[in-house]
Amino acid sequence: MEAADAASLAVHTQDLAKRYGKTVALSGLTMSVRRSEVFGFLGPNGAGKTTAVKLLVGLALPTAGQGWVLGAPIGDLATRRHLGYLPELFRYQGWMKAREVLGLHCELSGMARSDWKKEIELALDLVGLAERADDKVEGFSKGMQQRLGLGVALLGRPELVLLDEPTSALDPVGRHDVREIIRQLKARGTAVFLNSHLLSEVEQVCDRLAVVDHGRVIATGTMGQILGQDGAVRVRVTGLTPATRLGLQGYGSLEDEGEWLTFRGLAPERVPELVGDIVRQGGRVYAVEPRHETLEDRFLQLLKEQGD
Ligand SMILES: Nc1ncnc2c1ncn2[C@@H]1O[C@H](COP(=O)(O)OP(=O)(O)OP(=O)(O)O)[C@@H](O)[C@H]1O
Ligand SMILES: [Mg+2]
Repeated sequence: MEAADAASLAVHTQDLAKRYGKTVALSGLTMSVRRSEVFGFLGPNGAGKTTAVKLLVGLALPTAGQGWVLGAPIGDLATRRHLGYLPELFRYQGWMKAREVLGLHCELSGMARSDWKKEIELALDLVGLAERADDKVEGFSKGMQQRLGLGVALLGRPELVLLDEPTSALDPVGRHDVREIIRQLKARGTAVFLNSHLLSEVEQVCDRLAVVDHGRVIATGTMGQILGQDGAVRVRVTGLTPATRLGLQGYGSLEDEGEWLTFRGLAPERVPELVGDIVRQGGRVYAVEPRHETLEDRFLQLLKEQGD
């Protein structure tokens, strides 16, 4: 891809790789994130998620490959002003008040002094820390510190926000709040790059996602594309002979767990036909449950396929 094409994207990488000595942290990452989309970057511990974000924000240098962020080559200083970044592990000076931490970052980002107050209030409100603005960080719980980190990432209305596990320290209310904040960011046209291993979080807010393992993308697309369109149905049935059970395999890939039979890849309109067939063959049907494959099922399956 030419740099000109990359300009229309929030992020574009081509075979981006990073080694630390003998350790391959990223082995060749190729992906695109569109502007104003929420992009989930999902993978197990050690997959390379944090490394990818560090390369994108210019905190680490790639060993090979190329990348563009907001149309500029990664590491470009002027572009960094338009990025928001919540690091995975961070600690602010305990003696500073929350408001001072935000003020410091306004200053570091080169924001016009006249905008500081407004931006700081906005960030405090957005992350639910308005009441604690004048308290010192050392008295903050981990979740409050994470909220503050998120507030820092949102200062100055960045065009792209990269969040590295933003909810790892948050309670369910905090997680819900972060999802809401992400939705608000999207609504105002901000692209969000969300590193996470919380599948439900990714499932609920992301437009598209990439699954990474061992430093490379093993699946990418919308949730629908990753999960596949055809669902599955579970049927609880008794009274079928082993031979009739085998005969039902034509309806989809069959998982036989005694009374429960799961048919995968079965189109919903074929469910009545399946049930009719079972009853005709002497089966007694107690339950018919559609089963949507969850991201967790798919994620585990993808990782397993990689291991095979
Ligand atoms: N500074 C470093 N020095 C040496 N090795 C590193 C460094 N940073 C990362 N690695 C290695 O690179 C690989 C990817 O690490 P990374 O932190 O990117 O994973 P991750 O997907 O963010 O994992 P987690 O879910 O645990 O946060 C790991 O094998 C890790 O040990
Ligand atoms: Mg990480």
